[in-house]
Amino acid sequence: MQKFVMQGGKKLEGDIPVQGAKNSALPILSAALLCEGESILENCPKLSDVYTACRILTSAGCQCNMQGHTVSIRADSVSHSEIPETLMQEMRSSIIFMGAMLGRLGTCTMGYPGGCELGSRPIDLHLQAFRRMGVKIHEHHGILSCTTPNGLHGAKIHLQFPSVGATENILLASVMAKGETILTNAAREPEIIDLANYLNRCGAKIRGAGCSTIYVQGVQKLKGCTYRIMPDRIVTATWLSAVAMTGGNVRLIGTDTTSLEGILDVFEEMNCRFSRSENTLCFSAGKPLHAVRYLKTMPYPSFPTDAQPVVMSALCVADGTSLIEETIFENRFRHVEGLCRMGADIQITGRAAVVHGVHRLHGAQVSATDLRGGAALLVAGLSAEGETILTEISHIDRGYDSPEVLLRNVGAGIVRI
Ligand code: EPZ
Repeated sequence: MQKFVMQGGKKLEGDIPVQGAKNSALPILSAALLCEGESILENCPKLSDVYTACRILTSAGCQCNMQGHTVSIRADSVSHSEIPETLMQEMRSSIIFMGAMLGRLGTCTMGYPGGCELGSRPIDLHLQAFRRMGVKIHEHHGILSCTTPNGLHGAKIHLQFPSVGATENILLASVMAKGETILTNAAREPEIIDLANYLNRCGAKIRGAGCSTIYVQGVQKLKGCTYRIMPDRIVTATWLSAVAMTGGNVRLIGTDTTSLEGILDVFEEMNCRFSRSENTLCFSAGKPLHAVRYLKTMPYPSFPTDAQPVVMSALCVADGTSLIEETIFENRFRHVEGLCRMGADIQITGRAAVVHGVHRLHGAQVSATDLRGGAALLVAGLSAEGETILTEISHIDRGYDSPEVLLRNVGAGIVRI
């Protein structure tokens, strides 16, 4: 198993290019299944989750080819509507292929994605929506078998919670369904807008993506196109936290500052300074870092749950006490154990974490528990005194494209072994 070995304390200085967004690339790869002809997706990050998504497309009968950061997909001969169990287990967000398979083939069979490190990860909102669109769903021994005996049709759908995945799945199923779909209380994340932009460029008729109500008019067919994936706002938050912790000063290249509002105002409260042009963010650490009295994770455009672990790392060495409330997932504090091994002073009560800032963390042997929790320990190791050994880094490779290379280029002491 690979690991990162870090010698902490080096300021980060220089330019960091920001990768394409994992949580935009995955639904757009699924959407390519709906299209005739070729789709070419640029700025696709090289991640294990992206490779898994390509394997799912191939197993469905697509031709899928990744060269560098560009993926080309031909979906003319999609025939297979079953997602292999092994691929489901590798990536729970494979549920995002259900909507596209129903949209293209009218059937889909896949294992129940089940829970993960963050909690139960139910898909009730996805299934309720599909039933309203005419999908018959049979669950047997953990396998979901979906059919559309009378075809897939548009519907009025209200989400009890603005679920990102459910919103994406409903878009994927509705773009070629008969008639209109009106989705209320939709998720407003920027990745939803990216997916809608791709689908509309392929010929779909989607209005209101990014707002709480989305209108979709079903069309007969979609044609593949060339599309550039948006920059990853959570990876951006991760590098901002690394700079904040090491006291550095970097330029993030190719980021999209409009999708960072809920994140930048937290770093501003932490006494960090930044200036932005349309796709570059100049950022320098606050000296000292200030604590944040109360930080609550909420759906977009508020502070995102995915940035909570890495921001917590920075708050561990801020002046003062911060209160963090995690409202989205029931088990998203698994990185706290590792941070405490590194000398952090954190108390957990239910979904709240009280972080008392300490002067400095010290190196330790820690292991990643999930994708963003692993990233939290990575950024902590870059600033901790002495050596940190971070194991189970396959979690990190799911969402970060060559992190050690980018970080070494701005002076970090990190090697992958
Ligand atoms: C997406 O997950 C992201 N993953 C997550 O990023 C992100 O944390 C999450 O959205 C919230 O922003 C991808 O885009 C691949 P949700 P998703 O459906 O779609 C409950 C990362 O680190 N819920 O918005 O699974 C659910 O239990 C990952 O990149 C239901 O109850 O998130 C959770 O509490 C982690 N029933 C809440 O909604 C459902 O049917 C948010 O889930 C669906 C969700």
